[in-house]
Amino acid sequence: AGARPIMSSGQRVLITRRLPDSMLDTIRKQLPGVTLAMHDAEQEAMAREEMERALRQGVDAVVCVIGDRIDAPLLQCDAEQRLKVVATVSVGYNHIDVAACRARGIAVGHTPDVLTDTTADLAVGLLLATARRFREALQAVETPGAWSSSWSLEWLCGADVHHKTVGIVGLGRIGAAVAHRLHHGFGCHILYHGPRDKPQEAAALGPAEFVASLPQLLQRSDFVLPFCPLTPETYHLFGADLFAHMKPSAMLINVSRGEIVNHDDLIQALERRQLAAYGADVTEPEPFPADHPLLRRPNVTILPHIGSASHATRAAMAAMTVDNVVAGLRGLPLPHAVDA
Ligand code: DGY
Repeated sequence: AGARPIMSSGQRVLITRRLPDSMLDTIRKQLPGVTLAMHDAEQEAMAREEMERALRQGVDAVVCVIGDRIDAPLLQCDAEQRLKVVATVSVGYNHIDVAACRARGIAVGHTPDVLTDTTADLAVGLLLATARRFREALQAVETPGAWSSSWSLEWLCGADVHHKTVGIVGLGRIGAAVAHRLHHGFGCHILYHGPRDKPQEAAALGPAEFVASLPQLLQRSDFVLPFCPLTPETYHLFGADLFAHMKPSAMLINVSRGEIVNHDDLIQALERRQLAAYGADVTEPEPFPADHPLLRRPNVTILPHIGSASHATRAAMAAMTVDNVVAGLRGLPLPHAVDA
């Protein structure tokens, strides 16, 4: 599908994924005469060549989503340096070369805070699904003959979540929201690891206990939940070295970025029973191949990156993105600028 021109004249905004009509109307109202060129697809990503072509033709703003690589070679297509703002409909911005944008005077905006609770809800749901074996249970219900007796004592038994020790790696917005749910709702003891102790945030969580060494946190945790941005330092952070420190009964739940886990090492660690199960809402790559060996393991539960996917939250993310675009094209500071 090509980028569909919606209106002509004045400033041009490239939108790489379908946005709700109400959002497009808001941009038009606030920026009279704007041209919106939208890749009118719900799921299919805009082809790189099309993005390059659009930048060569000249755009003032790009609205993108995770998976669209906004890197230096793409920005160089903007030979006239017309681009002023890149606004991603996500809190994460590892797909954007922020330094390259800054070097060209391009402001970068994202959607923090508004998706914290929705993503935290999903993380807790995935933790429960993994611990209590929802995937196998659903398959048993749907497979003729698999649910063969009315009830049996040990069938599909999983692990309790309540009152367990939870290790949070990165007590940022989402990490703290998950810790809050698990402490106050499930009576879990919260350990956390990160660059520094956060006594104020930790006080409200039990208090949560700061563990300066990541291996030590892994040795003590029944459930490990990383909430790290994807950076060169966190790429494949969870690999063989760290899995060796986990309890054989422990479970790893990843709603951050697929790339922070080394899948090959994970498969080996699961085979060696160095950990009991893996739940993820994020994978490397995305979309995740349906024949990936991880999916053949019953103790792996994978969701298709739906952490922020509630109607209200996605609408709020779109609204923040529009605010970023409008401010950027009016020459104002972005209300939700990345602070990297
Ligand atoms: C984000 O916003 O970064 C999420 O991963 C996508 O909803």
